[in-house]
Amino acid sequence: MNDMDRRAVIDKTVGFVKQRLSGAEAGHDWWHIHRVWTTAKHIAEHESVDTFVVELGALLHDIADSKFHDGDEDIGPRTARGFLSELGLDEGVVEHVGLIVANISFKGGKHEQKFRSPELDVIQDADRLDAMGAIGIARAFNFGGHVGRELYNPDIRPNLEMTKEEYKKAAAPTLNHFYEKLLLLKDRMNTETGRRLAEQRHAFMEKYLEQFYSEWEGEI
Ligand code: ADP
Ligand code: NI
Repeated sequence: MNDMDRRAVIDKTVGFVKQRLSGAEAGHDWWHIHRVWTTAKHIAEHESVDTFVVELGALLHDIADSKFHDGDEDIGPRTARGFLSELGLDEGVVEHVGLIVANISFKGGKHEQKFRSPELDVIQDADRLDAMGAIGIARAFNFGGHVGRELYNPDIRPNLEMTKEEYKKAAAPTLNHFYEKLLLLKDRMNTETGRRLAEQRHAFMEKYLEQFYSEWEGEI
C-alpha cells in the first residue's frame, strides 16, 4: 500500500471514530483519541515501529470501551477488526490492531497482558500519559462526576489490592483513583520518551494533591 492509500485509510478511520464517539463521556471522547494519536506519533519518532499500525491502533483503541458496553470486552477489538476488514486492509494489520485494542487497557494493572508489540507499547504509553498531568486530573474528575462519585472522603482509604473485577466496580471517591491508578503509571511506561514525559506529569499531580489536601484542611 502506498503512502497516499495509507493517508486515505487514516482519514476514513478518523471519520469513523469521530462519528462513533460523538456524545461520549468527555474523558473518553474524540479529543482523548486525538491527544493519544498525537502523543503516539511523537513517541513513535524515537522507536522502531510500523507507524501505520501505531496510528490505526491509537485511533481505534477506545472505539468501544467495555465499561460503557455492559462489560463486553470483545466489543472494542471486534469493532476495530470489522471496520478495517471492510476497508480491505491486510489481514496482518487487521489482526495486529485488534490485538492492540484488546490488550491496551489498565484494568487495575494486575492482570497479565497477553499480547505485546512495540506498536502497542507506544500507544499504551500515549494512553497512560493522557491519564496523567493536568489533563489526567480533569479526566478523572469528569469520570467521577459522570458516575456520581464524591471528590474526596478521608474515611474511605484507597485500595491497592483490587482485583480486576473490584477495580471495574469501584465506587470510591475520585481522589482514591490517584492512588489506585494515576500515581502508579510513571513506573509502568514502556518507552524512554514515555518515561520522560511521565516524570513531568507525575510531579504535577503530586503538587496538585499537596495543594488539594492543604485546602481541604482549610489552610491558607
Ligand atoms: P483503561 O481504559 O486504561 O483500562 P480506565 O478505564 O481505568 O483505564 O481509565 C481510563 C480513564 O478513565 C482514567 O485515566 C480516568 O481518567 C478515568 N477513570 C476510570 N476509572 C476511574 C475512577 N474510578 N475514578 C476516576 N476516574 C476514572
Ligand atoms: Ni484511551
